[in-house]
Formats: sequence, structure tokens, C-alpha cells
Amino acid sequence: MTAHLDPRGDVAVLVPAAGAGVRLGPGGPKALRLLGGEPLLVHAVRRAAAARGVRLIVVAAPPADVAFVRELLAPVAEVTVVPGGADRQSSVSAALSVVPPEVDVVLVHDAARALAPAALVESVAAAVRGGAGAVIPVLPVVDTIKEVDASEVVLGTVDRSTLRAVQTPQGFRRDLLVAAHAAAVAAHTDDAGMVEKLGERVLCVPGSDHAMKITRPIDLVLAEYLLGHEAGSTA
Ligand code: CTP
Ligand code: MG
Repeated sequence: MTAHLDPRGDVAVLVPAAGAGVRLGPGGPKALRLLGGEPLLVHAVRRAAAARGVRLIVVAAPPADVAFVRELLAPVAEVTVVPGGADRQSSVSAALSVVPPEVDVVLVHDAARALAPAALVESVAAAVRGGAGAVIPVLPVVDTIKEVDASEVVLGTVDRSTLRAVQTPQGFRRDLLVAAHAAAVAAHTDDAGMVEKLGERVLCVPGSDHAMKITRPIDLVLAEYLLGHEAGSTA
């Protein structure tokens, strides 16, 4: 069933999905790889579309697959599809460029975090609405982290109590995200990093185990398990 977005909503969700998925191994662009019989991108868009307040979803697709992605997502939700760029940042910029000015809250959400729940989308958007210019969902770091030199010799142990593992969706006041992208000179792996460079405050909210990023083959195995055990799942 096609999800109907909220025409009175104040949130745009940008979904960078143009990556190759090199670390996942051969098999085509990662966002189009199957999880429980459906592409990762379909899972991600379905959950984003189910969140309250979402007025617009913009997907940055692999340039060669734009028409295919439009057809793929038509039954899932009303989605705008644009060609992505050579790196994640340019894919986000391409999606951001089609967001109309009246949308105040922009979330950036990796297709690779296919199982991020709608509730997480809502909590990040709520924190932006509540006054934060930039919001990231985070989890505590569970491994002991060492700093090493070029010869793999340990320089020291990092205090992990002050570290956080960062997920998406990341949420922004629209004007702040536009300014951060306009000012970015180096490549960043997330959008909050660009906002930090502007000297702006970035707020952390609790993340979700289900918002894990599918990067390596083992992540797909874990995601299949999570999908089969989601609340309401018939699997
Ligand atoms: N992404 C994108 N455009 C790119 C590169 C990445 O839209 N040129 C997206 C990916 O599709 C993914 C998200 O950014 O949803 C996070 O990137 P990552 O997990 O690194 O995915 P890939 O780049 O596809 O994977 P890899 O780095 O293993 O090739
Ligand atoms: Mg990548």
C-alpha cells in the first residue's frame, strides 16, 4: 500500500542511496540489495514514510538507476528521486537542492540504515522542532578503543565514556544544513560534521539498535534477524 505523506508536515527526509556498497561485496548498489526479499531502500523509505510530520522524501539514487528506483518506490510512498553524486556529501547536496524553502526541518537518513524505526525519525524531528539546530542519534561505544601509530603500536587507550557511535537520521534546521553544505570544503562522512565545522551546537538523542548500518555481509545477517523479530512482524 502506498503511504500518504503529511501535506501539512514540516519535515523533509533526504535518503542518500547512491553508494556502490563495495564493503558488502559484489551484487550491485547497496541500497538495491535485498533484505527479507525487498531492497534496503524500500525498507528505509517505508519506515520514514510512516513517521508523523513527514511531508517530503527525497532519494538520491545511483545515477544509472534513477528510473528503476522511481518505479520501485512508487508503490511504497510518494517520493522524489534525484541522481546521486560521486560521494555521500554530493548525494545529500543533490537531494537538499530540491527541498522547497517552506520545509523547516530536514533529516538526512542513510538507505544503509534500512531498519531505523519511524519512532527514531519522529524523535529526531521533535528535537529539531524543540529548538536544536542539529540533532544526531547516538549509542554508547561498547568496545575498548585504542589509538595506534602507523606501525600498529598502541599509543594509548581512549576514554570511551565520552565517545558516542553516531547513526542516522540526523536532523537539522533547514537553513543550518544549507549553510553547512555551502561552506563545506573537505569531504565529511556525516552532515553533523559539517555543522560542527561552522561552530554550531549538535545535540545527541538516544539512537536505536535497529538503526545499525548495513556495511559488511555480517550486518545483513543481523539485519535479517532483526527484521524477522520486529514488533508486528509475521516473519
Ligand atoms: N551514498 C550516496 N552516494 C554516494 C556514496 C554513498 O548516496 N556516492 C549513501 C549510501 O547509499 C548509503 C549512505 O550514503 O546509504 C552511507 O554510505 P555507506 O554505508 O558508505 O554506503 P556505500 O558507499 O554504498 O558503501 P561502501 O562505502 O562500502 O561502498
Ligand atoms: Mg561509502
